Amino acid sequence: MAENKARIYSAKKTPLHDLLPMETPISAHIDISSLCNYRCSFCFQADTKGMKAVGLKRGFMDLSLFKKIVDDLADFEAPLKKIKIGNHGEPTLHPELAKCIEYARSSGHAETVELFTNASKLTPTLNEGLVASGLQRINVSLEGLSNERYEQVAGVKQEFQDIIDGVKDLYKKKCAVSSDLVIYVKVVDEAHSLRGKSELVFSLSEKERSFFYETFQHHCDEIFIEKVVPQWAETQLDRQNTNTGTGMYGQKTQEWKDICPFTFMYLHFNCDGTVSPCTLDWPRKVVVGNVNHESVYSIWHGKKLRDLRVAQVAGERTCVDFCSSCSAPMVCVEESLDEHKEAVISRYAVSTEELLLSDNMWVQSNPIIASS
Ligand SMILES: C[S@@+](CC[C@H](N)C(=O)[O-])C[C@H]1O[C@@H](n2cnc3c(N)ncnc32)[C@H](O)[C@@H]1O
Ligand code: SF4
Repeated sequence: MAENKARIYSAKKTPLHDLLPMETPISAHIDISSLCNYRCSFCFQADTKGMKAVGLKRGFMDLSLFKKIVDDLADFEAPLKKIKIGNHGEPTLHPELAKCIEYARSSGHAETVELFTNASKLTPTLNEGLVASGLQRINVSLEGLSNERYEQVAGVKQEFQDIIDGVKDLYKKKCAVSSDLVIYVKVVDEAHSLRGKSELVFSLSEKERSFFYETFQHHCDEIFIEKVVPQWAETQLDRQNTNTGTGMYGQKTQEWKDICPFTFMYLHFNCDGTVSPCTLDWPRKVVVGNVNHESVYSIWHGKKLRDLRVAQVAGERTCVDFCSSCSAPMVCVEESLDEHKEAVISRYAVSTEELLLSDNMWVQSNPIIASS
């Protein structure tokens, strides 16, 4: 029977401040498809106007670019903990998904290759490919527990039974070959209606919670009911719940963090090769590099990312465009570096001059700061 636990507790962790500075990032989040077939009310994918306003170009990542990113990881001293595939859109729409996973797994540059999916395409054929590809972890996201709820929350006609069948088939296939694939299934505890009044919220009843566990607990390895949180800055925040003092996994949250732990932990690769310090930068405003022209190693150790970290330890996250209004450091990640600011400054050998931020690209590029 599946273990009832949040995915952040799937592995033991060392306190983040003890790991800094990191020669090797913890993970590489590679977004092979920024296109999605759903428009979940709580996701930026539902904000068609917002995506148009920033001119967001969505599409698939070329297999050659994916391979280049994976190959670049060889420059780090140690393998990464994870390569995570599928962060902005739906990766199962990518026609070469299994090839991507196979390449990442056989590279040996990450201890775990992980996939996020809405499960809409878990057909017997794809499942066979996923198991054969060497995938080690799959996070299945459910948007509700009925056809009706999918229509109301994700704006799609989805036979919920097909999702159940897809997950069951995947579990059966992985058990049949004793694959090391870990299947995690989660559903959101409540979600706003996609259309009409944004105040309309669907919460899981006790009966639905039981139905969720009864339906999936014998067909996956880990299971959990997650919370929707206001994680997508500069988008339709009214449909992402208000900050209720608890994070995505029910953990208690701080009101504010000066330092975003994500910027010290991993890199996110957009489908066009631009690189962000986190997965939440959907409009690609906090771009710290481009893997089409630079190596992953040089981006991780480069001035752009260093400047971003320095701006935060100097207490100026509020002056960085996009980061200034982002709640993800509080609601999506438990780690906190604020209490260890001095240690971080010392471990990164940040000079007094750097802390003045006069040559800091993030702070200077902010129009409010630049004109003051
Ligand atoms: C953005 S999706 C991309 C991968 C895939 N399409 C999926 O749904 O799993 C990655 C994860 O973010 C979650 N997510 C998106 N918006 C969220 C929000 N506002 N609060 C909590 N989780 C959210 C989704 O439920 C999903 O588990
Ligand atoms: S949460 Fe996933 S499935 Fe839903 S719209 Fe966002 S990317 Fe698509």
